[in-house]
Amino acid sequence: MTLTSRIKNVLDTLKSPSKAELKEALIKLDLNVDDLAQLPKPSNGKPYNRKLLYKNEEVEMLVMNWSQLECAPHDHGGSHGWIQVLSGTSLNSVYEMTGSGLPAELFHEYHHKGKHFYAPKKAVHKMKASNNTDLVTLHLYSPPITGMIVYDLQRCAACVVSDDCGAWWPKEQFQKVKEIQIKKDIVTEERNPN
Ligand SMILES: [Fe+2]
Repeated sequence: MTLTSRIKNVLDTLKSPSKAELKEALIKLDLNVDDLAQLPKPSNGKPYNRKLLYKNEEVEMLVMNWSQLECAPHDHGGSHGWIQVLSGTSLNSVYEMTGSGLPAELFHEYHHKGKHFYAPKKAVHKMKASNNTDLVTLHLYSPPITGMIVYDLQRCAACVVSDDCGAWWPKEQFQKVKEIQIKKDIVTEERNPN
């Protein structure tokens, strides 16, 4: 059986999966880094490169191959999911939203190879490879992510990014679905005419 049909067999049984069901699916699949040949190398200046392994209407599964750069704080839109560390160690920082509309770091934690950790709906986090490890992570989200918000805390800005953009500030205007300027308690939204 090919890897894709193995993944499809497990993931096609999920309908609006709960937190527990999503984790069970990952455990059942029991994927490791050796199952995933020819991972895309991270491009210059990007925190990771990702490869879509499977997607249907209910779920999407991606593998991410990390550089040593940190991604930007972001949420996963209206999706929840699990992240499994396939190689290396991840440093995951978890945020809470403040009244200003900007997230503030609550805590950070290390996750080593084999560990699964949960990302609730609307939760904001950022990740990076810890201690120069070769970080590879497997992500299972439900439903497939759309409307992800990325934050630039230095510029007090937030942006809804297009589905093809990763967890970094978009370089291309077309990847900015909606830019949100946050100034103290005043939030102004500027819609991208495109
Ligand atoms: Fe994320």
